[in-house]
Amino acid sequence: MGFCKWVCLIFILHAFLPLPIFSSWPSVSPEELAQIPVNFLDFAKKTELFDWMVGIRRKIHEYPELGFEEFETSKLIRAELDQMGVSYKHPFAETGVVGYIGTGSPPFVAIRADMDALALEESVEWEHKSKVPGKMHACGHDAHVSMVLGAAKILQEHRHELQGTVVLVFQPAEEGGGGAKKMLDDGALDNVEAIFGLHVSPAHSIGAVASRSGPLLAASGFFEAVISGKGGHAAIPQHTIDPILAASNVVTVSKFQGGGAFNVIPDSVTIGGTFRAFSKESFIQLKERIEEVITKQASVQRCNATVIFNEVEKPFYPVTVNDKDLHEHFLKVAGDMLGTQNRLEMQPLMGAEDFSFYGEVIPGYFFFLGMKNETQGQFESGHSPYFRVNEDILPYGAALHASLATRYLLEKPKPNPPKGSFHDEL
Ligand SMILES: *[C@@H]1O[C@H](CO)[C@@H](O)[C@H](O)[C@H]1NC(C)=O
Ligand SMILES: *[C@@H]1O[C@H](CO)[C@@H](O)[C@H](O)[C@H]1NC(C)=O
Repeated sequence: MGFCKWVCLIFILHAFLPLPIFSSWPSVSPEELAQIPVNFLDFAKKTELFDWMVGIRRKIHEYPELGFEEFETSKLIRAELDQMGVSYKHPFAETGVVGYIGTGSPPFVAIRADMDALALEESVEWEHKSKVPGKMHACGHDAHVSMVLGAAKILQEHRHELQGTVVLVFQPAEEGGGGAKKMLDDGALDNVEAIFGLHVSPAHSIGAVASRSGPLLAASGFFEAVISGKGGHAAIPQHTIDPILAASNVVTVSKFQGGGAFNVIPDSVTIGGTFRAFSKESFIQLKERIEEVITKQASVQRCNATVIFNEVEKPFYPVTVNDKDLHEHFLKVAGDMLGTQNRLEMQPLMGAEDFSFYGEVIPGYFFFLGMKNETQGQFESGHSPYFRVNEDILPYGAALHASLATRYLLEKPKPNPPKGSFHDEL
């Protein structure tokens, strides 16, 4: 009975933890700790690792896959992890992969890459142009995957020095599908204490990073509204109830569908758009106002309106808020690696990121990695069919991921030694 009480308890506990609980905190002396490398930029710039990352990025670029369909990308990631001897779990959220490097014990710190492409035809003429009609990696997620895999190579090489476990998060469907939310629902971040993510940036120079503490990217949502009236011949508008007139009173929408003929007033009009805010409160207020303005403006023109926020297909993204302590950590790591002059403070952007879902649950940190290099021409912004990635940034991203995680584990206050050690007997 006494035996079972403890043994069973351990096994019950074990059943709830995803990884072994028996391997203890590595016992390393302060002198040994001081020897652990934490700046991996030179390592990441080595030709062999650089070429390998470029190869992966190009392979993914040639075969872009849309959200929750990243089957081949996921397969490629798993094959590379297998090759490195990195253990992982799959699938999370259909195609997601989560890898583990280090002790297999807490603390757990995550680095994240998104895998999906956009429904866009590539207009850049180059050797590794998208081979899939109507699909393109026009937001750099191919480079994001390659950089986290690059970090995995670096970390695996240094796995015996890691003071905990680095969790590699490869998630689907960042572009509107809310893949991060599904990863969380599937338990991808259970026991993880902090997470880092990055995005390539054509607005900042190569070798520089930009971010801020607090709100960085907006909360976003989408709406569609159908405004209905009574159609008729445009020559006798007095017998109609004109929905186009009602819809025109709603300013700055980006989708407007109504009417197909020169002489017919249609029965209804469909409008739609996106709305964004930097706080939860403003976001909710905005949503209520959209509904109010549309329905009331419609009634002014004797029309009816229904407003739909299709959260199932297009989930609302929360505000991406950077944790204050992780910001300090980032400033140290990036400053030491790139020089303090290349560590830029930025204003919040109206763009949205589903990385924000992670930040709602655990401390998260998101930053932009510069790729501008004037001698290589203009780099277009994301979602352009002319978008290009400056592949010279791959070592920077890989090294930052690896260093942010390694130093996080190294500098985290160690837990107290277990009670009942021999010191207690003295
Ligand atoms: C608006 O809805 C009301 C109530 O359902 C209906 O009686 C009316 O005909 C509708 N008006 C238009 C223009 O569709
Ligand atoms: C910018 O591009 C040029 C031409 O490819 C290259 O020689 C140079 O090293 C690049 N600068 C950086 C900082 O990568």
